[in-house]
Parts: sequence; structure tokens; C-alpha cells
Amino acid sequence: MTHTDPQQEIDQLRDEIRKHDRRYYVDAAPTITDQEYDELLDRLKQLEAEHPELLTTDSPTQRVGGEPLEGFRTVPHARPMLSIDNTYDVENLSKWAQRCFEALDPRLTEIEAELAAIDQREAPIKGKRDKESQSLRKQGKEQRETLRVKADEILVAAAKCGYTIEGDYLAEPKIDGVAINLRYENGLLMLASTRGDGTHGDDVTQNIRTIHAIPLRLAATAALPAPEVLEVRGEIFLPNAEFQRINQAFLDAGKEPFANPRNATAGTLKQLDSMAVAERRLQFLAHGQGEVVGMEFDTHTRFLEALAAWGVPASPLAKLCRSIHEVWKLIEQFDAQRDQLAYDVDGVVVKLDRFDQREQLGTTSRFPRWCIAYKYPAEQAVTKLLQVDWQVGKTGKLTPRATMEPVFVAGTTVQHATLHNYGEILRKDIRIGDTVIIEKAGEIIPQVVRVDLDQRPANLPPLEPPEKCPDCAGEVEAEQDDTGKETARYCMNPECPAQLRERLIHFAARGQMDIDGMGEKIVLQLADAGLLNSFGDIFELHKKREQLLALDRMGEKKADNLLAGIEAAKARGLDRVLCGLGIRHIGSTVARILAKHYGTIKTLQEATREDIQSFQTDGQESGIGPEIATSIHHFLHSPAGKHVIEELRAANVTLAVSQPIEQNTPQIFAGKTFVVTGKLEKCTRDEIHALVEQHGGKTSSSVSKNTDYLVAGQKAGSKLVKAEQLGVRVLSESQWEELLDRHEVGQEKRP
Ligand code: IVH
Repeated sequence: MTHTDPQQEIDQLRDEIRKHDRRYYVDAAPTITDQEYDELLDRLKQLEAEHPELLTTDSPTQRVGGEPLEGFRTVPHARPMLSIDNTYDVENLSKWAQRCFEALDPRLTEIEAELAAIDQREAPIKGKRDKESQSLRKQGKEQRETLRVKADEILVAAAKCGYTIEGDYLAEPKIDGVAINLRYENGLLMLASTRGDGTHGDDVTQNIRTIHAIPLRLAATAALPAPEVLEVRGEIFLPNAEFQRINQAFLDAGKEPFANPRNATAGTLKQLDSMAVAERRLQFLAHGQGEVVGMEFDTHTRFLEALAAWGVPASPLAKLCRSIHEVWKLIEQFDAQRDQLAYDVDGVVVKLDRFDQREQLGTTSRFPRWCIAYKYPAEQAVTKLLQVDWQVGKTGKLTPRATMEPVFVAGTTVQHATLHNYGEILRKDIRIGDTVIIEKAGEIIPQVVRVDLDQRPANLPPLEPPEKCPDCAGEVEAEQDDTGKETARYCMNPECPAQLRERLIHFAARGQMDIDGMGEKIVLQLADAGLLNSFGDIFELHKKREQLLALDRMGEKKADNLLAGIEAAKARGLDRVLCGLGIRHIGSTVARILAKHYGTIKTLQEATREDIQSFQTDGQESGIGPEIATSIHHFLHSPAGKHVIEELRAANVTLAVSQPIEQNTPQIFAGKTFVVTGKLEKCTRDEIHALVEQHGGKTSSSVSKNTDYLVAGQKAGSKLVKAEQLGVRVLSESQWEELLDRHEVGQEKRP
């Protein structure tokens, strides 16, 4: 091929390279060697260098570039990025299909309508005892009965055939990676953002551009032009081999490796320098759509077909199924294959294929009702317990950590597990030298499930709990529950250096002061160098720039970023400071309640313990009981506590509430108080607390006559008993979800 016009050659090369990207990443069928591909790219680079005026941002040469970022911009999502309801059993999967069927089957919706019509017909005669009314009611009763029988018959038959609906179910592997939203405008990749809190995410476009599987420009054609706006959602992940390569390089460089491919992916996406991202070969597979303008798809399958044509990869393993029975077969098949896949699959996502049906089902506040994830059970492995160390936490809590013979489980090599507390060690009768069965579910820290007593060597001594702090040799105190089981052990030395390190890590972390550039490793490095001995020292670091720069791997830029991060954190507000101080019993919820009520640290310092435990917010108990009140009061009046506050004040850290955030969530729980207790399956207690508060309600840690609802998980103990005595409404986890949904149905479903 000879070219006289460089523009023409450049265009041809770009098309050629994009075509090979597509063959490689979408079709998994490359037609040239890596070397040939590199030659094309080199020629293009050369031409672009000779003719810089012809360079465009969507050129395949422009994946890496630009200055490292200072931080990520937060961007709103055009459509919320929800998560998916999970289940671990086939029973629930079937129930999900039944719910879909009930909402979609025309015969059942007809019956629903008829039942509603009967209700309506009877409304005017409610309570009337005349003959005519009575006979009308009798007629209604019979009709209802007939309709119910009919509905039951339909459901029984449907259960038998696996709830076939008019469209199909679509099942595809659930990839354990990081969700991303890719926004194409007129075919060009304009924005890539992480899920974040579901409504806002981080702009990681620069990093995403380095991923070759993601086209910078859609391969639009006359037959299938690119829509005005196309948001593709999918998963960014690291294939296991690449993950292992990266971790090996980390180990070789003496760095702490990532715990699993998912963490490595998340860590990579958070790199500020896209050059570093380009070195790790991240992958992408699409699994859904966000905002789409200028084109309509009627099914997910059609959407995937269009993506394939545009050069956007999706899972080749997605399959349509007629019934939930077929889905289940597929789940079993995937399970048998999944360890042969190049990447981690932790379950199967099942969705309705037809978009109109999805709309009909709508979403709850957190999940779409048209989609469910079946998760494979946690993998177990057998290994030997070698050692138990007691780690000191920020409140002085001593937590036993097991070191075991390394064992491969669920895609990674595991060597450590938490043993929770001494009571648990006794309950499971765990001894050093035991053969133990461990379990790992996703990113959750491995657990020791049980000991294989048959394998126990004779005369293995029981484990002894520490009588002194393993770090500072300070006094240790144990805590027990009502049954006498030990639930925690604390180092009582307020000056314990290990506690201080943990407190500093907590103070600087996300959710508390959120100091950019001050992660765990930096805190430890600073503490080891003697630069941090108190919270106040953090805000003195700018006076010690020289010493900062003398630290290992601390350049000018990194030091400046750190100092800027510290400066910015000063304005987080009183609640974040209170939560960051790591005072026992003061988590984010309590900190928010205190900050909101007292407004400034000064008012809080002046409050008596009685006032703290008895103040009311909007005419209701705050939920702060004597234990919390004693803890915060004690801290604020202790010499150490006073000193910390003084230091923070001197450093100009904001010790008053920051501006309230504007609320646009419907305040459906206004005036209602919730208590959450027991072991929850689907979400954490903090998540429920946050949802209650977002919706205008209050949360409390103890049940009283002012409690409106108790959300009770498994093994809810004394709070459940008390709630029942007081006649407080008790909700199971799913009833709580229903309550949340019911209030929101109207506005959550798209019109
Ligand atoms: S569909 C409304 N399909 O799993 C969300 N998600 O645990 C619809 N995920 O946030 C998402 N593989 O990032 C879908 N094949 C798949 C998936 C998948 C992984 C992720 C996704 C989601 C998370 C929920």
C-alpha cells in the first residue's frame, strides 16, 4: 500500500488497529501476532509524531498520557448504579422467579384486577347489614374464593414448569471485579466513572482509557450508528494470571501484595498515574446499560448484539433460559467450569431479558427487582494452625490472629485468619498445632470454621489468653457477656504505642478525617520516624517538611500532596472529628447525633453526663445510653482528651458542625425511631442506620417505649424480648426491606 496523503494512512491504520482490538478482545479470535500489531501501532505513532496536527484523542496511540492526577473528581451518575440482591440457595432463586412470574403473567394480573374490582364494588356497602348488601358480600366471597383457587392452580402449574414467562431469563457469570460506567457521546468515550455510593462516583476516565478492551471510539456503521448517548456498565477485573504477575512483582519489590484480584483491581483504578495503570492488564466485560439517548433496545440480548458490533466486549457465557429450572442447570454447569476460567467468578447473575418487563417490575431503593445474583457457597480448605498473635486495635482491643500453613482457597493463597476473641477460641476449642477447616467468601477475611479433632495430636495444650499487652506490656482487662463467655480483652494503657498507631490510621482514614495521601503505610512510616506521637502532630507536619522529605520513597510531590490533604481535612466538621478520635462506643452514627445536638465541641464539653444521656432530639430520646455518655464524658474530661482537643483547636481544625447536607430523599421515617439488632444477612447494621437517617428517621441502640420498630436479625437476644414486652413492632430483615420499598414504590418505579 502506498500513501501520499498522511491523513489517509493515519485513518487506515487507526481503523486497522481498532479492528484488531475488536478481534482480540471481543471475538477472542486475533488474526495477527502481537509483533505485527505493535508494528502497526509504531507506524501510527511515527506518523502522528511527524504530523501532530493530525492527532486526535480517540487515536489508539492515545490510551496512556497526560499528567498524573492530583485526585479524582466526583461525578454524578445519570442513572443510579444499584447493586443486586444476593442469594445462596436455589429455594430463594425460585421465589425470585415466582415474584417475577406473579408480576408478569397476564392471567394473574387479570385475576388481581378482578379482585380489586370486587373490593371496589363492596366499598360502598362496608358495614351495611341489609339483605342486599349481605348477599352482595356473599357473592364477593365466593368470587374471591374461585379466583384464588384459579390463581393457585396457575402458580402450581408455573412452579412445575419453572416459571416460564413470555420473554426469557438471561444468566451470566458474576465477575468479581469493580463496576464501571462508560459514557459514550456520539460514539466517543467521554467519561468513565466508578459506582461510588451509587449516585456519585469517581471520574477514572484517564485510567480506563488504558484498557485496550474498551474502545475509545465505538465502531459505528451506517447500519448501526452510535447513539447520541450510550452508557455501558460492566466489570473491570484482573485475570488471575495477571494478578499473580502483579503480586509477584510487589513481593519482589518488598511490598505488601494484594489480598485478591478484586482488591488489586480496585487499587489499580485508584492510581493517580495512568502510566502505572497501563502496566497492569485490566480487562473489561459489559453487563448492562445506563443512560441511552437516541436509540432504543427492547431486550438485553439486542443490546449485547449492538455492543458486539460496536466493539464493546461482553461475556461470551451469557445464556438465555426459558425457565428457572434451565437457569439452575446452567448455574451447576458454570460451577463445574469456573475454576478453568481465566478470572474469578463468584456467582451467576440472572436477569429478565425484556426491558419492558424490567420496567414493570421496577426497583427497590437498592436493588432492581428484575435481577438476582446467585452466589456460590464459600470455598473451604484444610490447613494447620501454626501460631496465634494478639493484635492491638485503636481502642486497645486485643484480637487474636491465626497464622496457618499457606493454603490455596477461592483463588488466593491464605495464611491468616481472625479468631475474633478468646471466647470464640474456647468455643471452637482451637489449639496451636490443630488441623483447621477455613472458609473464605469473596473479600471477607478467612474464618476458621472448626477444628478437625480426629487429627489432633495427643497432649496439645489449650491456648492461653495474654495477661499483658503484647506491645507495651500494659494491664489487660477482659469483658464477658451474660453467660460468662469472654467477648473482648483490652490493653488498658492509654499511652500504648500500638493503640496510638491504630488510632492515627483510623483518624486519617475515609469516613473519618479522610486525609488524602495518608493511608495506613504512610501513618506507620511517619510514626516509626517519630514524626507522629499524637493527633495534633498530624497538623504540625507542615513545619517538618525537611524531615518528611528525608523519608524513604517520599518525593516533593508526594509530600506536598500529603500536606495539602491534611490542610483540606481540617474542615471535615465536628462529627468526623468525634468519630475519628476512636473513643469507645463513638462510631459515625453517635458522632453525628452528638455533633448535631451540641453544635460545637465547647458545648459538648460543658454538657454533663446526665445531659448527654438524656437529651432529646425532636421530642424523642436520642438513643445515647449511659454507656456511651460515660465514655464520651470521660474522654472529654480526661487530661489526655482535653489535651487532644486543645491541640486540634490550636491547629484550626473545625470543631463545629459543618453545613447540613441538603436532603432530597422522601422523609418517610420522620418521627420514627428504629433499633437494629441481631445478625443480619443482606446488609450491615450501619447500612440500615444510614437508610433510616436518610429517610428522616432516628436510630437508637436500645429498645424503649419510644422505639417504633425493632429490626431483628438472627439470634436477636434481649432487645427482642424487651421489644415484645413493650409491644414494639418487630421486623425481620425482609420485612424491613418491604417497609422501605412500600413507601417508595410510587417514586422508585420509572413511569
Ligand atoms: S448486572 C443493577 N451482571 O455485581 C445492577 N452485574 O453485586 C445490574 N456484576 O454492581 C448489574 N457481574 O458490578 C450484572 N454479569 C453481571 C455482573 C454484575 C458482576 C457486579 C456489578 C454489580 C455487582 C453486584
